Amino acid sequence: MTDFWSDLTAHHAQVKNRPILSLFDEAGRAAAFSARLGPMLFDYSKTNLDATAMDLLLGLAEAAGVPERRDAMFAGASINETEGRAVLHTALRNLDASVTVDGADVMPEVRATLDRMAAFCDDVRTGRFTGQGGAITDVVNIGIGGSDLGPAMAALALSPFHDGPRTHFVSNVDGAQVAEVLAGLNPETTLVIVASKTFTTIETMTNAETAKRWMAGKVADPAAQFAAVSTAADKTAAFGIAPERVFGFADWVGGRYSMWGPIGLSLMLAIGPEDFRAFLKGGAEMDTHFREAPLAANMPVLLALVGIWHHQICDYPSRAVLPYDQRLVRLPAYLQQLEMESNGKRVAMDGSDLPRVSGPIVWGEPGTNGQHAFYQLIHQGTGVVPCEFLVAKQGFEPDLAHHHRLLVANCLAQSEALLRGRSLDEARAIMAAKGLQGDELERQARHRVFPGNRPSTTLAYPQLTPETLGNIIALYEHRVFVEGVILGINSFDQWGVELGKELAKALEPVLDGTEGTEGKDGSTAQLVAYLTA
Ligand code: F6P
Repeated sequence: MTDFWSDLTAHHAQVKNRPILSLFDEAGRAAAFSARLGPMLFDYSKTNLDATAMDLLLGLAEAAGVPERRDAMFAGASINETEGRAVLHTALRNLDASVTVDGADVMPEVRATLDRMAAFCDDVRTGRFTGQGGAITDVVNIGIGGSDLGPAMAALALSPFHDGPRTHFVSNVDGAQVAEVLAGLNPETTLVIVASKTFTTIETMTNAETAKRWMAGKVADPAAQFAAVSTAADKTAAFGIAPERVFGFADWVGGRYSMWGPIGLSLMLAIGPEDFRAFLKGGAEMDTHFREAPLAANMPVLLALVGIWHHQICDYPSRAVLPYDQRLVRLPAYLQQLEMESNGKRVAMDGSDLPRVSGPIVWGEPGTNGQHAFYQLIHQGTGVVPCEFLVAKQGFEPDLAHHHRLLVANCLAQSEALLRGRSLDEARAIMAAKGLQGDELERQARHRVFPGNRPSTTLAYPQLTPETLGNIIALYEHRVFVEGVILGINSFDQWGVELGKELAKALEPVLDGTEGTEGKDGSTAQLVAYLTA
């Protein structure tokens, strides 16, 4: 049987010093190392991948059972084995599908909840549902992690589509955030959504209680201006939120995959049910492509294989997500949770130690801002950071087309600079043209060398509409899934967040002085003493 991992490692050893640029000598390289979905183009030709590497990677994906695991996921099998759950966030956006879990059709409930969300949003947006001082002007979503990052990222991404109340997001338990958000709002016209799958998350419940007290000072019935998004109906009732404003979802929707359903309520309030459905449509289009396209032309599979090549085979420790689309400013943060909470694991599904590194560090910022900050390291640092560029053909500011041209020029310039670099001879010629000579010319030239040969991919799309955003988010979700299957891990649990939560709970009485620091390490005891003195 082929050992794809060792074959890939051996192939990499052979080609690692080859200039990526030389691969373009072969006619048709760009088209051959690209994939399309409708008008969206994913170009991975500026990488050191060649036909041999792709064959091996595709073989690896087949051998790891990607097609079978994918079909099992869509069919509602319990693929989240450590929690004994199905993984069906895709059911939230494939509204005509028929999906059964444990023999029961889950779709009637999915559709009914979406209709209820839409009806509630229409009521709020048209003024049929009001606050105790008039029409709702502001919505505050209180949630954290997957109950915050998705709608917060998308609300910014889709700002040209906002025609509802203003949306605000509170996530951090740091009172600075809730205080600053609420300070600008009128409690009589504010709707608060408490978004928490479990309705036990300490940050969210603390912020929700604070918001309730803030409102209680001004309105007779604060709970009447609260809605909840949760799987825990008993807890939302105990909080005082009427069932007609509670939107539930099943345990087969993981937190970081949940923005397609009720967790997206704040987004739906902002952009309206129709545009929210367009977002779902975009996700569903990517699902169909993921299910039907052959692996070699399958965008999420290819994006995953590029990721595996760069991280597990080339040993590049991180990847940068660089949207040349200011409205995607929170996409890197969103992807940090999606990718690192999903694939930041150290054991395989069966509990054995992983034989290789798991998911990479994901980070980034929008261009062009990043260019004036950390791109120095990307271009001339000693390590290699594979870059994932995103760019739209068109913006939403027709009067500022020249801005967009500059934005696109910069995006393309960066991937070109990473690819080509600048040789010592070219740098010498530049210095000579400036009149430098001898040792000084040599010294200055060396500082101006760009090694180049640094890989990047570019995802290009017509415009950042709700449908396109749906395409993009589902693309990354499936990328994470494919990488997880290839690594043999469970991408759908997150046990790594638990220990810190437990210790924080135990430290609260230490900080308020009801318990001592016995049993704590010296550093923690010193910090407690400093912070409580
Ligand atoms: O950080 C752990 C986590 O469980 C995330 O996976 C989740 O998105 C977040 O906390 C919030 O959880 P909840 O929606 O239950 O408040």
